[in-house]
Amino acid sequence: MIGSKKLARIAESLDYDSRAPNGWKTVGWGGYRRALLAPDGVVYKVMHDPSKDATGHTVNQLEAERSRTMRRKARYLWKYDIAVPEVTAYAVNGTTVNAMPYLPSTRQCQCNSWEYDQDDDGEWRYTYKINLCRCRKWGNARTCFGIVYKVLEEEFGLTDMWAPNLSYNSGFTWPIDLGE
Ligand SMILES: Nc1ncnc2c1ncn2[C@@H]1O[C@H](COP(=O)(O)OP(=O)(O)OP(=O)(O)O)[C@@H](O)[C@H]1O
Ligand SMILES: [Mg+2]
Ligand SMILES: [Zn+2]
Repeated sequence: MIGSKKLARIAESLDYDSRAPNGWKTVGWGGYRRALLAPDGVVYKVMHDPSKDATGHTVNQLEAERSRTMRRKARYLWKYDIAVPEVTAYAVNGTTVNAMPYLPSTRQCQCNSWEYDQDDDGEWRYTYKINLCRCRKWGNARTCFGIVYKVLEEEFGLTDMWAPNLSYNSGFTWPIDLGE
């Protein structure tokens, strides 16, 4: 468990259009959610629209579920220097608020060697183009972000891989948006 129901409830009740109150900070806005850093040092994600998809789940419910399934594969992910944040889904006021560790990124999580491109069949693929990779030159050997994107897309179905949805923190790459 991470975070608390009390703070999840406060996050959900905050006025969307005004500034976050004392002790709170808006750390990101996405297409689906607002990420708020709370006084307990935990991030709470509040959905813009709490409606459910075809499977009957909200973005926050999908994220919590995906965190659990991915964390069961921790040893496999570790080989690629990927770690998955724990997510706790709190049911408040008829909706779900997700709590997740605050993971500010110390690097831009992308590699200039890789590009999305259409192959001969017209299929969009993420491919290695030219040798501009500097991922392994930051000091400690680490996995190229292009490989990280590929593993997350192909093995775990994360279709929205780009730098803002990943965080490089304490030697690991953390997918911080597991919502789709
Ligand atoms: N745990 C976290 N620690 C630090 N920053 C975070 C965290 N989670 C989210 N953020 C920031 O908030 C932004 C929005 O959060 P998130 O990507 O989860 O929302 P979303 O609506 O699902 O996004 P998208 O538009 O990519 O679907 C992120 O891009 C990131 O900058
Ligand atoms: Mg996002
Ligand atoms: Zn690279």
